[in-house]
Amino acid sequence: MRKPFIAANWKMHKNRDEALKFIYAVSPQIKDYDNVETCIFAPSILLRCLVKRKGDNLQIGAQNMHYEESGAYTGELSANMIKSTKVDYVLIGHSERRAMFNETDETVNKKIKQALKHELKVILCVGESLEQRDASKTVEVITSQVEKALAGIKAEGMKDITIAYEPIWAIGTGKTATKEDANQSCKEIRGKLQSLYSKEVAESTRIQYGGSVKTSNIKELMEMEHIDGALVGGASLDEKDFISLVNYNK
Ligand code: PGA
Repeated sequence: MRKPFIAANWKMHKNRDEALKFIYAVSPQIKDYDNVETCIFAPSILLRCLVKRKGDNLQIGAQNMHYEESGAYTGELSANMIKSTKVDYVLIGHSERRAMFNETDETVNKKIKQALKHELKVILCVGESLEQRDASKTVEVITSQVEKALAGIKAEGMKDITIAYEPIWAIGTGKTATKEDANQSCKEIRGKLQSLYSKEVAESTRIQYGGSVKTSNIKELMEMEHIDGALVGGASLDEKDFISLVNYNK
């Protein structure tokens, strides 16, 4: 049985005061609700402030990290630094980072290995562009991203990895994939995990859908067989909406 996992990706939103307002509103509402796993991926400067106030049943994650242990990488954060702030998760390979910050399947793979080495859990993002979708390349693109991202990662490592299927054309556009299409892509990813690892790994790994998820469509997406959670950008920024997203089945 895969535990549903609803995560917020704040991207480059919220200053310290706004983050505090959010956490003080959300934390008491979530502390007794352990049917769903939750995580807020916040800008790195806010991580410590959120970790200190998150309460129970709410986890905090970083949106990115460097794959080297330490060194002359001005402006970057290491896995060790992130772990030392008591952060639980790191988001790796978001399409915005792939498109705007030159992340490749190779660096994504290195980052995942480094995160696991430091006992950080990972959400790995994969997803096709509109052009790739129109050329019927969705399955090829996402299964190749999964395979390359997970190269050299053993089956034991998969217990700390969640995959987020995020079609690029659906992110921040208001265009959600149909629940059937989203489910089909998640199913293909699960099939790939089975061929890379085993049926057991495929069935125990959580696969989220992301791309214009909101309070009005989360329930129908979560009802699909292969969708185990959601990675939510825009709609996760409002306290009430985030609480509703987490309570999608109530
Ligand atoms: P969105 O973003 O919900 O605003 O479409 C999702 C994401 O980028 O993770």
